[in-house]
Amino acid sequence: MRPCVTGRALEMLGCSNINSPGVTRILRSPMSKTINLNGVNERFRSTSSMQGYFELARERSKTVASFYNQSAIDASAEKASVRLTPATLLYAGKSPDGHHVLSSAKYLQKELPVRIAHRIKGFRSLPFIIGCNPTILQVHELYIRAYHMLCDFPAIKDQETETRYSTLVQQLLDDHKDVVTMLAEGFRECRRHIQDENLVRNFLDTTLTSRLGIRMLATHHLALHEENADFVGIICRRLSPKKIIEKWVDFAGRLCEHQYGSAPRVRINGHVAARFPFIPLPLDYILPELLKNAMRATMESHLDTPYNVPDIVVTIANNETDFVIRISDRGGGIPHSILAKVMDYHFSTAEQSAQDPRMSNLFDSITNSGPQSGPMHGFGFGLPTSRAYAEYLGGSLSVQSMQGIGTDVYLRLKHIDGKGESFRL
Ligand SMILES: Nc1ncnc2c1ncn2[C@@H]1O[C@H](COP(=O)(O)OP(=O)(O)O)[C@@H](O)[C@H]1O
Ligand SMILES: [Mg+2]
Repeated sequence: MRPCVTGRALEMLGCSNINSPGVTRILRSPMSKTINLNGVNERFRSTSSMQGYFELARERSKTVASFYNQSAIDASAEKASVRLTPATLLYAGKSPDGHHVLSSAKYLQKELPVRIAHRIKGFRSLPFIIGCNPTILQVHELYIRAYHMLCDFPAIKDQETETRYSTLVQQLLDDHKDVVTMLAEGFRECRRHIQDENLVRNFLDTTLTSRLGIRMLATHHLALHEENADFVGIICRRLSPKKIIEKWVDFAGRLCEHQYGSAPRVRINGHVAARFPFIPLPLDYILPELLKNAMRATMESHLDTPYNVPDIVVTIANNETDFVIRISDRGGGIPHSILAKVMDYHFSTAEQSAQDPRMSNLFDSITNSGPQSGPMHGFGFGLPTSRAYAEYLGGSLSVQSMQGIGTDVYLRLKHIDGKGESFRL
């Protein structure tokens, strides 16, 4: 088996986690004068910083060159991925001797390298100027490293190998946790070189949804080890939409209070007693994004009366085929001039907010951060990513703006109980 060069480069840095601040700083800003040598091993400490940098750059260029010449990845990328319906996972059964965990691990061992190889192919197909961006290259490297670590792992035969495999899967989940932020940063940095908007959209839609699928499968496997009567892996047997909405209302409300001094009240109505099998994980991403948007709009359209703002109303509708969550705010709506853009990656009005003198005070004194990194908004990834996730799950996300009054966002998701047609993970 070919040695994992990235892994070696990391060992050289005395570090097993590519996301560690020391490594990130070195890899991200190779030309910076103050190279941070935290966590760098003796070999680098004994040389000057510039020498250290050149050695690292040499090692990296070797690594990068080898990325384009890896027959194992090419072969895996030719294979089709085997996607499962949530109903298959839900009704897979549980054997007392833990056989179901072993079968799940064996499935993952076959499936993960194929999915990761597809992603690597995606990175290779990016236009040169984008693929060269240091942050995007770093994500590309993370995927190659994960591919080799998974492929180098011996065949899973017994509980002992399964336990070690699960540890590796958990480690990779941790190593990849910042990938969305990194891609957002990387693409923002090279935006000006991109003429074709569709290229960014297609790449990010595919990469982010495929990542969600991989993370759901991996987390499902790890969760199979836990005893919880309400769950089968990541699937909650009796998910209450109201409960999960309340959890994220609480979260977004606290962020909102921190930033604006108070937060709108949220009323939940409709089918509040509904319970059905569903996977909370994607909702844990989508709901906070939608609620933060609604709260931000509400607060910013009532800056003069922050303690007297209109409520946000969340309505749940459940039926045989799907369930719908509508979030209605009275935050003034989305102006006609930007409505077509709000689903674009990187589109955000955060910068404009920060320029409003009333808002810039809030940003400076409360969050002490720039307009791009406030907790109530990010890189303009909330809506496009939520829509991509909803569509991946066989649903949809649509926005209706009543300009001058407020916005209604409809999140529609298919049931996974196996009765109707379902999406595949
Ligand atoms: N409920 C809403 N009311 C008014 N404007 C909204 C609402 N939701 C989203 N928007 C607009 O869409 C833009 C993009 O939203 P999003 O993708 O979540 O990115 P971000 O929140 O990081 O700006 C926001 O900056 C805002 O201008
Ligand atoms: Mg947002």
